[in-house]
Amino acid sequence: MIYFAPLQSYTTLPYYLAFHSQIGGIDKYFTPFYRINKQGIFEFESQLKADYSICLIPQVLTNNSKDLATFAQEMLNRGFKEMNLNIGCPFPMVANRHLGSGLLPYADEIKQMLDEFYNKQIPIKLSIKSRLGWQDPMDIFSVIQVLNDFPIHELILHPRIGIQKYKGEPDWSLFEKVLNIWQGDIIGNGDINTIEDLKEKQSSFNDAKGWMLGRGLLTNPLLLSEEEQSSGFFLKKLQNLHDAFYQNLLEFGYAEGQILNHLKCFWEYPSKNFSNGERIFRKLKKTGKMHDYWDFPKLFFDQALEIIY
Ligand SMILES: Cc1cc2nc3c(=O)[nH]c(=O)nc-3n(C[C@H](O)[C@H](O)[C@H](O)COP(=O)(O)O)c2cc1C
Repeated sequence: MIYFAPLQSYTTLPYYLAFHSQIGGIDKYFTPFYRINKQGIFEFESQLKADYSICLIPQVLTNNSKDLATFAQEMLNRGFKEMNLNIGCPFPMVANRHLGSGLLPYADEIKQMLDEFYNKQIPIKLSIKSRLGWQDPMDIFSVIQVLNDFPIHELILHPRIGIQKYKGEPDWSLFEKVLNIWQGDIIGNGDINTIEDLKEKQSSFNDAKGWMLGRGLLTNPLLLSEEEQSSGFFLKKLQNLHDAFYQNLLEFGYAEGQILNHLKCFWEYPSKNFSNGERIFRKLKKTGKMHDYWDFPKLFFDQALEIIY
């Protein structure tokens, strides 16, 4: 099983639908997290529903059963059969409030949230996306003891601690230890950037149910394809993905400014494939008008020979 990792601002529904139509090969697409706003309510796009051609899993960031249940009920109403709880987000603004990976030192709070949630018997599967801990990678072992008592659908584990953010290496030896004591299905995540990385992880951890990929797939959307890839083929597929994404943004009815922001995000990771991509991307980020945007895809797509990939 291969899952697309949620990345706030990048892995939007229009992007996922474009990816599925032009590239595919993904079993589940996870939304970036939803959380309650200052008024205490969740805000969802009208387009967030289950009836697309992709298997979309909505994600929530919370630390209490009330919001977890509200989210679950809303997702049920939108036709979803599965949802994901984020206990891995590393950002201090989040973590300092006992949310995301900031909740991992408090296994008792996780237990209370899940006890109350499962008592409500809401008919939706709940999976969890976690890190190893906030400051201490050993947090995960107390958390697993708690999680093992609940019918968690599956556990996605990114084996870093919160304070690392994305620096340093994932700790795959601790991933293996968790794999041995976790009683359910496990999905590994973190720094899988090539097909070789994926194969290496698959053969090292036979018992993992699958792998979740984020930045690697955004950078090289053809990462999973086994075919021989010329730079011309890569550029053509990237162009198709870009064009389908733009079309979806229009169909979703986004305003021009929003479309421009989405398109800027689209380029952030793929621009790393081009020899002078970072320079072009820096200029693109300063663009204020959709009218000026169209110079940039040309700059990228006309560079078939300079591609690093
Ligand atoms: C900009 C950015 C935004 C992210 N947003 C989310 C999010 O909303 N929910 C979540 O569970 N993880 C989020 N992540 C973490 C990724 O899902 C993933 O766990 C992480 O990038 C490691 O996987 P990768 O090396 O394959 O990218 C985010 C990561 C980045 C870099």
